[in-house]
Amino acid sequence: MRIFIVKSDTAYIDGEEPPFKTGRLDVMLNSAISAITHRNAQGIRRDVEFFMVMPLNDPPIIHINASKMARVPINEEDMLSLLLDGLRGREGGVNGMQGSLDSLITSLQSRGYSPLYLHEDGVPIKSIRPRENMAFILGNQNGMSNSDEYIMRKRGVRKVSLGPLPYMTWECVAIINAMLDGRILLA
Ligand SMILES: C[S@@+](CC[C@H](N)C(=O)[O-])C[C@H]1O[C@@H](n2cnc3c(N)ncnc32)[C@H](O)[C@@H]1O
Repeated sequence: MRIFIVKSDTAYIDGEEPPFKTGRLDVMLNSAISAITHRNAQGIRRDVEFFMVMPLNDPPIIHINASKMARVPINEEDMLSLLLDGLRGREGGVNGMQGSLDSLITSLQSRGYSPLYLHEDGVPIKSIRPRENMAFILGNQNGMSNSDEYIMRKRGVRKVSLGPLPYMTWECVAIINAMLDGRILLA
């Protein structure tokens, strides 16, 4: 399974407000679309799980298991309605969870994952051997807080880089998917 975790200290869901007004929820929605979809006939990447970690939201973690989804989200509005339907039990593959970035990392480590933290200053991603089960942690438009970086260091999460330029979160997700699909050749 390919796992993406995006942490946002600003985003929250408000069914009435547009996503860009609710702490840049749009960053989370676009990253989720980037993680779980592709443009072949089927549309959904069945081998991807996506976690939104949003302490300001209730529930603070939303888990998307693309293998259980029936609908293909095509834009932010659609992704948001899919999440809301999922949280109300009307759509498969979406679950609300309690917890934090720390508890999520430890639970993934107990499932055998060695999560990687995406950051410009990390070791080049080409030095990491691709495996079937990989988990990637990314920050939102503001990056990661010092306390989250401390938690990741404490949990032994390695920092990996896509290069010195800073990209948007959803661009990083798309680049990683393309790399693991074998579409971008690693040196
Ligand atoms: C828009 S960037 C955050 C920029 C923010 N100003 C900062 O200093 O971290 C969003 C996230 O994408 C990831 N990211 C962006 N560019 C990257 C790169 N070149 N290599 C690895 N990860 C990157 C990081 O996880 C980052 O937290």
